[in-house]
Amino acid sequence: MNVLLLGSGGREHALAWKMAASPLLTRLYASPGNPGIGKLAELVKLDVADHSAVAAFCQEKKIDLVVVGPEGPLVAGIADDLRAWGIRVFGPSKAAARLEGSKGFTKDLCARFNIPTAAYGRFGDLASAKAYVEKVGAPIVIKADGLAAGKGVTIAMTLDEANAALEACFEGAFGAAGAEVVVEEFLTGEEASFFCLCDGATALPFGTAQDHKRVGDGDTGPNTGGMGAYSPAPVMTPEMTERTMREIVEPTMRGMAELGAPFAGILFAGLMITESGPKLIEYNTRFGDPECQVLMMRLKDDLLVLLNAAVDGQLAHMSIRWSDAAALTVVMAARGYPGTPEKGSVIRGLDTVEGEGVQVFHAGTAVNGGALVANGGRVLNVTATGKTVGEAQAKAYAAVDRIDWPQGFCRRDIGWQAVAREKAGA
Ligand code: AMP
Ligand code: GLY
Repeated sequence: MNVLLLGSGGREHALAWKMAASPLLTRLYASPGNPGIGKLAELVKLDVADHSAVAAFCQEKKIDLVVVGPEGPLVAGIADDLRAWGIRVFGPSKAAARLEGSKGFTKDLCARFNIPTAAYGRFGDLASAKAYVEKVGAPIVIKADGLAAGKGVTIAMTLDEANAALEACFEGAFGAAGAEVVVEEFLTGEEASFFCLCDGATALPFGTAQDHKRVGDGDTGPNTGGMGAYSPAPVMTPEMTERTMREIVEPTMRGMAELGAPFAGILFAGLMITESGPKLIEYNTRFGDPECQVLMMRLKDDLLVLLNAAVDGQLAHMSIRWSDAAALTVVMAARGYPGTPEKGSVIRGLDTVEGEGVQVFHAGTAVNGGALVANGGRVLNVTATGKTVGEAQAKAYAAVDRIDWPQGFCRRDIGWQAVAREKAGA
């Protein structure tokens, strides 16, 4: 098969790495890709916003499958437009991608189909949003309705903070994405990322992970896209997985079909495991980054076989095998991230670290004058497997320490919750 992969981050490098191991793969193209992906795929420059140009490329290169990494193109309807040209695409339609593209849409779906989530209100103007906040009280959560690159959520511990967040939204801090807001109840518990591979009718559990959103050790400092992850998430026991499927994912699949927008692709449920059980925080309609990196390290089956089955509506007949090993990834970021990262510093020593159970996925890298340089906020994902999360953590940090990049930094405590549990259980 000829495959076109869209995207440029560590998530896409991990997908490329796993697809490259498939005997089904003939040629892999990636756009725009990155230098790590460039070792596995031919990198091509396409304007991903120009769906006809992408379709024309697919016809010219006889692409059998397009795999869409990030949410932006999905929410913009690239899957629908490519399908209209007869091109097979892994990823949801525009109507199904509303699960990520509009938080209000998802909340209304939850209300209609009885899916457990935080109590909420949807507002299109400042005065009524403020009145609701006043009535419910703090702590309370304010969310811009649309895509805001992970920056549209404020956990307000006081009414003043809540009102400031509402004002920022309605004053245009997130552009059109903030023209409407969701205000919701503050949930407490342990968070987990839960993935399902979906074909419109069937959803198959596709692994669990825990992300680390704050930039600093001990979960301090500003939010980021994710500073590291591990899989599996110990809080997702078989019972919790079964409840999540029954109470959250299956009603979502039925609801989306009923609304005429059956969901096919990766459904990524951000969950809060509360005292009363799993509650949906939000949906994403794609793999998580960096969660994908740890899932790909543990997936035993051929990724292309699974993606094809999802595209062809064949998941009811499939099962998915995972390694018993734990996997952990440490994000190395450029100084300044998540504010303004410094670009251009030289990274050395990557070739010395990959080996048995260790992979370095590229995110924001570039090649400049033959040298590998930092070219973004999150730059490298140093990923390892081990019998336990503790062992994977030790291997990942040993690899981090061999990378020669003084301008980079990482959290030193990725996996702390799981490692503490393992120690307590030992
Ligand atoms: P989101 O962008 O929706 O994933 O939200 C970012 C982060 O905000 C989540 O990972 C949670 O840590 C936190 N969060 C979002 N909604 C809530 C909520 N209702 N209660 C508590 N924390 C929340
Ligand atoms: N790591 C969280 C996300 O991909 O949205």
